[in-house]
Amino acid sequence: MCGIVGIISKHDVVEKIVSGLEMLEYRGYDSAGVAVIDQDGVIDRVRAVGKLQNLKSALNDQPIKGFIGIGHTRWATHGKATVANSHPILSKTVCVVHNGIIENCKELKFELQKDGYQFLTDTDTEVVAHLLQQQLDRGKSPREAFRYMLATVSGTYAFAVLFESSPHTLFVARRRSPLVLGFGEDICVASDTTALSGLSQEVIYLDDNEYAEISLSSVEIFNGNYELIKKDKVPIPESTIHTGKGGYDYYMLKEIMEQGSTLRHTMQHLSIPDNLFDDVSRILILACGTSYYAGMTARYWFEEYLHIPTDVEIASEYRYRKAIVQPNTLVVVITQSGETIDTLEALDYVRSNYNCRVLAISNVKNSAVSRMADYILYTDTGTEVGVASTKTFTAQLAVLASMAVHNNEFLLRELRNMPLLIEEVLSMQAQIKSLASSIVDVNSVLFLGRSSLYPIALEGALKLKEVSYIHAEGFAAGEIKHGPIALIDDTVPVICLCPYDSMFEKMSSNIQVALARGKRMLILTDAEGATRLPGEITKLIVPSVHPVFSALLYVVPLQMLAYYTALMRGNDVDKPRNLAKSVTVE
Ligand code: F6R
Repeated sequence: MCGIVGIISKHDVVEKIVSGLEMLEYRGYDSAGVAVIDQDGVIDRVRAVGKLQNLKSALNDQPIKGFIGIGHTRWATHGKATVANSHPILSKTVCVVHNGIIENCKELKFELQKDGYQFLTDTDTEVVAHLLQQQLDRGKSPREAFRYMLATVSGTYAFAVLFESSPHTLFVARRRSPLVLGFGEDICVASDTTALSGLSQEVIYLDDNEYAEISLSSVEIFNGNYELIKKDKVPIPESTIHTGKGGYDYYMLKEIMEQGSTLRHTMQHLSIPDNLFDDVSRILILACGTSYYAGMTARYWFEEYLHIPTDVEIASEYRYRKAIVQPNTLVVVITQSGETIDTLEALDYVRSNYNCRVLAISNVKNSAVSRMADYILYTDTGTEVGVASTKTFTAQLAVLASMAVHNNEFLLRELRNMPLLIEEVLSMQAQIKSLASSIVDVNSVLFLGRSSLYPIALEGALKLKEVSYIHAEGFAAGEIKHGPIALIDDTVPVICLCPYDSMFEKMSSNIQVALARGKRMLILTDAEGATRLPGEITKLIVPSVHPVFSALLYVVPLQMLAYYTALMRGNDVDKPRNLAKSVTVE
């Protein structure tokens, strides 16, 4: 979370920094700020609470200029979203932007206060600014101060720092939070390459514990022992260059509507490593959120078609358990961003304690996970800008399904047919929009599914709560009688995923049980299922699909339902409150 940008140029950098922040706003939008060193060699900064638009207005009222500067878009961790807590954070002659968490900030604050440094914010980052200033006040150079700070703080960070005493050099560092250097007419640094498209042609990805001193005339990169290292520039990946909303009001709708083509693209470019499953006696899937639900869905496929016992674990829980990984386990890590700290830490736990092969599935080329895995499979969807994952989820499912049925020509053909079926569902937009109007005012919605549609019920509920802020829960339909049924009354819509498949009869009974307690029900089914379900219930009839892949199809109307419900409630669908797309704090 939080996006950072830094630019050094022969021209004013403020507008470019703000454009970079615009591309990073998905990482947080509680507040934003920019700081430059002006022509008098003094740090000037402007900050504003809320979305970037507010910063732009503040910059109109109070313009600043400089050839070197840093910017930040914040997802609040320490301290509320106020101007005081907005980055860049200043201490006399030093200014810092930070993504991550300084874990020893309390101890450091105590020491710095004893030394006379006055704290004006609730942020953890302020200790970094004062620590650097303290070292300068003690006669250290910016380089010495920066190295001292890196050696003193614990936790996670990507930093960009301006020193008035070194007005042509930007100091940057990373540990567990992403940071990439960009090279073009200007020298840039950013949390990810999307912020650099249009500015840089080539990039260098910093690795953990590396830091750099950057000026227009030289870029020096150091490893964790402060030894100068050489890293090669690589062309900026094309998939990070996103092309706007394509005529849609929101990225989320654009990304939902793209799913036919993103799925085709992902499958065309996919190459499952030879012998991937040789000697594999167990699969362990680690992921969070929507990616975790993709993993849950894959378990059904892996066990049925690969005949390999599969465990799926929430990464943030897994790393704090003394989990045991059996010999010959293939670890599959699913992360759209490739940067989710919980997932990376869980992987790190496995890597540090066990010897096993790791396959990662990610949408972001060169993300941190790609450097920690033995194999990487990309969901080739292009950048997903909407904070709620949509097209990357179906692409993750396509990758996982391809892995599961890689030896089954018939099922592979069925899978390749999925984009067409999904496009049929996408053409039902008007119908789904009208269903959204029936849930727009409710307080709570339940989603029920069985088998591989159980994780889709969970995902449908997650999508709805994320963007509409309506309370929603997904359940395994057979489980509701064990408790959740108490939630059902006439006010609570129950959305059931019920294709005509081997689970149909069981699901129909669950529907009857729910219907006996409430009256608001929506069933997603196919033509055959519709003829066998009670006529009076509202139904959305989707194309019939091979039962193995129904998850891929049934999630799409649920994404649309969430989108339209949120839209009708007047929410900013692409930037739902409190969320950020890349979750780099624990
Ligand atoms: C929900 C959503 C999140 C992410 C989760 C993991 O729409 O996007 O639940 O799935 O934060 O993120 P990644 O996949 O980047 O590791």
